[in-house]
Amino acid sequence: MKFETPAAANPIDQMKVVGRPLDRIDGPLKTTGRAPYAYERHDAVANQAYGHVLGAGIAKGRVVAMHTEAARALPGVLAIVTTLDMPQLPKGKMNTAFLFGGAEIQHYHQAIAVVVAERFEQARDAAALIRVEYAREEGRFDLAAEGHAAQPVDSDGEAGSAAEADDRVGDFEGAFAQAEVTLDETYTTPDESHAMMEPHATIAAWEGGRLTIWTSTQMVAWWRRDLAITLGLKPEDVRVDSPYVGGGFGGKLFLRADAVLAALGARAAGRPVKLALARPQVANNTTHRPATIQRIRIGAGRDGRITAIAHESLSGDLPEGQPETAVAQTKLLYAGANRLTAMRLAVLDLPEGNSMRAPGEAPGMMALEIAMDEMAERLGIDPVEFRILNDTQVDPADAGRSFSQRQLVRCLREGAERFGWARRNPVPGQWREGRWLRGMGMAAGFRNNLVVTSGARVRLGADGIVTVETDMTDIGTGSYTIIAQTAAEMMGVGLDRVRVRLGDSDFPVSAGSGGQFGGNSATAGVYAACVKLREAVAQRLGFNAADATFGEGEVRSGNRRVALAEAAARQELVAEDRIEFGDLSKRFQQSTFAGHFVEVAVDAFTGETRLRRMLAVCAAGRILNPKTARSQVIGAMTMGVGAALMEELHVDKRHGFFVNHDLAGYEVPVHADIPRQEVVFLDEADPVSSPMKAKGVGELGLCGVGAAVANAIYNATGVRVRDYPVTLDKLLEGLPDVT
Ligand code: MOS
Repeated sequence: MKFETPAAANPIDQMKVVGRPLDRIDGPLKTTGRAPYAYERHDAVANQAYGHVLGAGIAKGRVVAMHTEAARALPGVLAIVTTLDMPQLPKGKMNTAFLFGGAEIQHYHQAIAVVVAERFEQARDAAALIRVEYAREEGRFDLAAEGHAAQPVDSDGEAGSAAEADDRVGDFEGAFAQAEVTLDETYTTPDESHAMMEPHATIAAWEGGRLTIWTSTQMVAWWRRDLAITLGLKPEDVRVDSPYVGGGFGGKLFLRADAVLAALGARAAGRPVKLALARPQVANNTTHRPATIQRIRIGAGRDGRITAIAHESLSGDLPEGQPETAVAQTKLLYAGANRLTAMRLAVLDLPEGNSMRAPGEAPGMMALEIAMDEMAERLGIDPVEFRILNDTQVDPADAGRSFSQRQLVRCLREGAERFGWARRNPVPGQWREGRWLRGMGMAAGFRNNLVVTSGARVRLGADGIVTVETDMTDIGTGSYTIIAQTAAEMMGVGLDRVRVRLGDSDFPVSAGSGGQFGGNSATAGVYAACVKLREAVAQRLGFNAADATFGEGEVRSGNRRVALAEAAARQELVAEDRIEFGDLSKRFQQSTFAGHFVEVAVDAFTGETRLRRMLAVCAAGRILNPKTARSQVIGAMTMGVGAALMEELHVDKRHGFFVNHDLAGYEVPVHADIPRQEVVFLDEADPVSSPMKAKGVGELGLCGVGAAVANAIYNATGVRVRDYPVTLDKLLEGLPDVT
C-alpha cells in the first residue's frame, strides 16, 4: 500500500480497540520470567558452549602479537579466535567502527578475541590469560581541543565547505547585530551511555553454511544484512531472531560485536555459542551518544519577537563517523526571519559515537531550551509566554510548507495551567523551605516524526484466530500490544483472538524500532496487510469488499452476516503487504510537541538536587494505547532527569576511554530519584502521518526535559549551569549564603 495522500476515514477510526489503555499482552510473560531474552534461549539450540569477548587495552594503535597458549591449556577451553587470525572484516552499512579482525585498533575495548569454553567461568578465566602485545599510538580524545580541526558537515553528515554545509535563512549576522536584546552562550553536553538493562547478547549456531543468531536487536533486517556483509555470507543464509529485547535506546540499532563473535566462536568450536558483553565492556565496546559543544545566539526586539537565531554544534567521532545533529530542532521550533544552523565534526579516537534515544534533539534541546529561558529572563517575559510569542505554524525556512499539525501552544498553555505555573516566582532563589531552595522550570518538547516502510503478514485460521507476523521488534515499548490492537480493530475481533509474532527475519521486513518511527510505521504496515486480508475474506465469503464491515467476529454487508472464521474454514487465509510512504513528509513538516514542567528542591547546604514533580503535556497524533504511550513518556522523562543531573561518561583524555564504564560509576536515575510524574496527551489524529493517524512518542518524552530541570534549578538557586550534568559541584560556589 502506498500512502501518498492524507488518510481518509478508515476502520481504525472506530477506536474500539486502538486507543484503549490496554495492558501489555506480553506483560504476564515478562513479570513471570517466561519471556526469554537472548542469553536465555536455552531451548533454541542444543549443546550451547559459552563465549567470552576480550577487549583491547589501548585506544589506538596495533596488536603486534597475541599469546594464547596459557588460555588454550585451561580445562574446558574449546576454541580461541583472535583478531590476528583473520583480516579486518568488512563493515556493515550502518557501522562506523570495524567490529573485528586485523591488527588495527580504533578504540578502547574493541573486540580482539573470543574464547569459547564448556562453562562461562572457564571462558572468562581463559580470556584473562591471553597476553597481548600492542604498538600504541597517540590518539585524539579531547573534543574541545580538536575543535579547531573540525570539518563542516550538513544534516546528512556530508562534509563540505561551510558554505555548503551551513544552513542559512536571511542575514543572521546583520539581524543579530541590530537586535535590541541578545544572548550569546555556549552549552555542553557530555558523552552518554545507553545503559539499557539487557546487555548485548547473542547465541549463534551454524548448520552447514547457514547461520542463525538468537540475539537482542532493534533492527532485525539491518543486522541480517550487516552480519552477512561482515562474514561474507548471503543474507538468505543468515537468520536473526529477537522476540524480546531488554531495552536498546539506539545502542542495538546497528550490528555489534556480540553477534559477530558468537558466530566466529561457534564456527571455530564447531558447536553453538552463547555470549553476552559483560557490563563493563558495553560503554567502550559499543556506541554512545557523543558529547557536544553548542553555541547559541538569539536576538530579539523588546517586544520579545526573535529576529535572529543561530545554533552551532561541535561533536566528534571516529573517521567516517557522523555528527550529533543537535541543531535539528532549531531549524523548526521558533519563528525568526534570520537563521543559521551549522555543525562541525572533529575526528576523535574514542569509541564510536552514534544514535542514542532522540539523537539530535535530545542534546540539542538541552542547550536551546536553556538559551530560551535565559533570553526570556533578559526580555523580562515569562518563559512560557516567550515561547508562545515565537510559535510558528510553518517551516521558518519555507513559509509554503506547514506543519501537518502543531499544537505546541496548547501543550504549553495546558501544561502551565495544570502545573500551577502562575505560582512560580520569576526571581530566582526566593522560594525557601527550610534547608531547601525550591524552583520551577519548563521547556518546550520537540522531536521530528519519521516514517519508514514497514511490512507484515496476517493469517486467518479456521479457528478465527488472526496471527500477525512481522520482523518488528518490541524493545520494551509495547509493540506486541499496539500491533495486536491494530489487527483486532481491522479484523473486527477481540484482542484475545489475535496472536503477534515478532522479531524473526523469516517474517516480512518492518520499520524496526528506532527514531520513534516504529510504533506508527509498524502498525501502518499491519494495517496495510489487514486491508488485503479483509479483501481476501470478502472475496471468499462472496461479499463486496467495499461495503463489508468487520465487527464482533463477523463480516457484515446489508443484512447478511457471516462469522469471520467461516472465511478460513476450508483453508487458512494469508495476506501480506507493506506500507510505503510517499512525499507527504516532504510536503508537510511532521513533528511532535510537548510542554515539560518540573519542580525541584536544591539543598542549600550541599547543592544536591531533588525532583519534586514533573509534568509532560504531549501532542503526538493519535495515541494508539495511552498506557504503553505513557510508559514510554515517563521512561523518557526519567532519562531526561539522568541527562540533567547525573549521566556522564568521563573521558580519560590520556588513554582515551570512558572511565566509569559500569552501572556503579555511570549513574542513572533509580526509583528513589523520581517523584510524581504526570503525562497528558492532547486528543489528536494526524491524517498526514499514516493511516493510523499516529506519530512517534517514545523520544518526544525526553526532548526538553533536561533543560526544564536545569531551568528549575536556576529558578531555585540563581545559579545558571550551562554544562551538563548539573551536579552539585557546579552549584555550590554560587548558592546563597547559608545563615
Ligand atoms: Mo533510536 S536512538 O533511533 O533507537
